[in-house]
Amino acid sequence: MFGGCYSGFADRKLYIKNKIEIITKYIPRKYQQIPKEENFLCGIIGYIGKEKRALPVLLSGLKKLEYRGYDSAGIAVFGEDKDFLVKSVGQIVNLEKKVEHLDSGNLGIGHTRWATHGVPDEKNSHPHRSGSITLVHNGILENYMELKQKLIADGVSFESDTDSEVGAALLDYLYYKTGDMMKAIMEFKKMVKGSYAIAFILKGLEDRIFVIKNLSPLVIGFGIDECYVASDIHAILDKTKKYVTLEDGEFAIVKSEGIELYDYDGEHREHEIKEYDGAFADSDKGEFEHFMLKEIYDEPEVIKTILMKYVTDQGYVNLPDLSNYKNITIVACGSAWHAGLVGKYLFEKNLHIPVTVELASEFKYKSSFLNEGDLVIAISQSGETADTLAAIKIASSLGAHTLGIVNVKESSIAREVDEVIYTLAGSEIAVATTKAYLAQSTILFLMSVKDKLEKDEYKQMVKVPLVIEKMINERAVYKELADVIYEHDDVFFIGRLIDYAICLEGSLKLKEISYIHSEAYAAGELKHGTISLIREGTPVISVITDEKIRDKTISNIKEVKSRGAFVILIVSERCNVIGDFYDKKVIIPKEMVGLEAIISSIPLQLIAYEVARLRNCSIDKPRNLAKSVTVE
Ligand code: F6R
Repeated sequence: MFGGCYSGFADRKLYIKNKIEIITKYIPRKYQQIPKEENFLCGIIGYIGKEKRALPVLLSGLKKLEYRGYDSAGIAVFGEDKDFLVKSVGQIVNLEKKVEHLDSGNLGIGHTRWATHGVPDEKNSHPHRSGSITLVHNGILENYMELKQKLIADGVSFESDTDSEVGAALLDYLYYKTGDMMKAIMEFKKMVKGSYAIAFILKGLEDRIFVIKNLSPLVIGFGIDECYVASDIHAILDKTKKYVTLEDGEFAIVKSEGIELYDYDGEHREHEIKEYDGAFADSDKGEFEHFMLKEIYDEPEVIKTILMKYVTDQGYVNLPDLSNYKNITIVACGSAWHAGLVGKYLFEKNLHIPVTVELASEFKYKSSFLNEGDLVIAISQSGETADTLAAIKIASSLGAHTLGIVNVKESSIAREVDEVIYTLAGSEIAVATTKAYLAQSTILFLMSVKDKLEKDEYKQMVKVPLVIEKMINERAVYKELADVIYEHDDVFFIGRLIDYAICLEGSLKLKEISYIHSEAYAAGELKHGTISLIREGTPVISVITDEKIRDKTISNIKEVKSRGAFVILIVSERCNVIGDFYDKKVIIPKEMVGLEAIISSIPLQLIAYEVARLRNCSIDKPRNLAKSVTVE
C-alpha cells in the first residue's frame, strides 16, 4: 500500500465521476485478462484559449495525428458549464460524427490510439478519467501492474486494461495525498518507470493543462491568447509556427497566456520559443484517390528539390564527405533500413568503405564493435522512431559521430544527432513510405559520389525527374501487372546485391498495403529452400539493374520460370536483356546516371498500390499499422 492514511478514495472518485457527463457507450467488461496495453504510438493534442475553439482544434489536430494510430480516439472538452468526454472506436471520422451536435468549450485534450495488446475498444481509449484527473498518454508505464495493485489495495477501481488509466489514478492519488499538483507530478516521476508524454486536466483547475514528458515527444505551440499541446508539431502547424519542445526531465503548466516550465526538482526553467521554418504539412491529397498515390506522384519533385539543394551547377555534392571513415554503421527500421542497405552497396562499391546495416531494434541489445570516431548514420522519415533514436543515443555514448538522414524537421532524431541531412521529401501522410524512402536512397547515392558528378552526368541527372514523371504516368502498365498478381496468395521478389535491397522494399510495400504474403530473396538463395514454394503461376518479380550480375540473375529467373512462375522483370534499359525467360517487363530508362536501382523501386511502389486498390484495401492506413513508431 502507498501510505495507509488514505481513506474514502473510492467514494470520492465515484462522487466526482457522477458529477461529470460521460458520453461513452457502456461496454461490458470482458472476462478474459487483456494483457498490458502499451500505447505504442498514439497521438496527443491539447488546446486552451480564451475562445471556445477546443472542439474543432482537437478534431483537426487528431486528423493530422491519425498517422500515429487509428484504432480508436477520444476527446475531453471543458468550459463554462461544459464537461464532456467522448470516445469512439476506429478512425477520427467516427469520433467526429459523435460530437457534431456538441458545443465547444475553451479547454480540451484528445488522443488517437494504436493498440498493441489491449483491444481497441472504448474503455481502453483515451482520455482516461480517474477521480479529479482526465488524462491522455503516449508511451508505456512499465511498472503499471505493480502500481495498479497498490492503488487497488487503497480502494481505487479501474475501468480499462490500460497502463494509462493507472497513470491517471496515480496522479489523482498523489494529488489527494500532497494537496499540491506540482509535488504530485514530482512524486509521479519518481514512482513511474517507462516512457510517457502526458497531458491532463485537473478538476477544479480548468484554466490549465498539465504536461509531463519522459522519452516520448511533446511540443507546446503558442497562439494569441491560446496554447496548444501536441505529440507532433505538424498537428498544430496550421494554427501556429511558434513552439517549444519539452525535453526529458521537464514538465509544464500550460495556460492560454503562456507556459510555466519546471524540472522535476520543482525548479523553474526558462524556455525559448522557436519559430518552425520547415514546410507546412500538406495534408491535402488533391485530385488523388489516395495519399500514397499523390506521394508517388510527388517523387519527381522530391528528386528535383534534393538536386537543387545538395548538388551545385558544377556537379559538386554538398553533403558530408565520408572518405575519412574506416567503418560506417547504419541504423534504421523497416523501409529506412532497406534504404540503408542501398547505401551499403553504394558506399562499398563507390567509396570502398565497409558498411554494417543494423536493425535499430537489434542494435540496442547486441554486442557493439563501435570505436571512438566511427560514423553511425541513422535513417528515419519521421525522426521519431524510438528504436532508431535509442540506437543513436547508444552510438553517441560510445563516442561515435552521429549523422541523421531525416525527413521531419526538428524531430527527436534530427535534434539528437551531431549532424543532420534533411531528405526534403515534404510531409508524408500515407503510412507506407514512398517518396521519403526514395529521398533517403537518393541522398545516400549522392553521398557515395566521389568528388563530383562529371559535367555530362550532371546534365543528365537534372533530367531524371522528367524521366521518372513519364514512368509514373504509365499507370495502365502497373494496373495490368496488378491484374496478374492480385488474386495470388504469395509473391516472391528476387534480385542480387543492390537489386536485392530494392526487392526487400518492393516486397514490404506489397505485403503491408495489399495483405498478400510476399518475400524477397537474394536471387542465388532460392535453390537453398524457397524454390519449393514456386508453383504454376506464382508471381515472381525480379529486378536487374546491374549489368555485371545480369546473367547470374537471369539464370535464377530461368530456374523459377521452368517451375511455372509468372515472371515480371523490372530491368534497366542499359542491361539490354534478351530472351523469353520472363512474362512481363518494365524498363527503367537508361538516362539515370547510377540511379537505376533506386528508381526501379518506383514501379514496385506502383504495382503494390494497384494491387491493394484491386483488393479494396485501406491503402493509406493499412490495418494494424501506424506511421510513426514512437516507443520500442
Ligand atoms: C514501411 C514504412 C516503415 C518505416 C519504419 C521506419 O512502408 O514506412 O517500415 O520505414 O517504420 O520509420 P521511420 O523512417 O519514420 O523511422
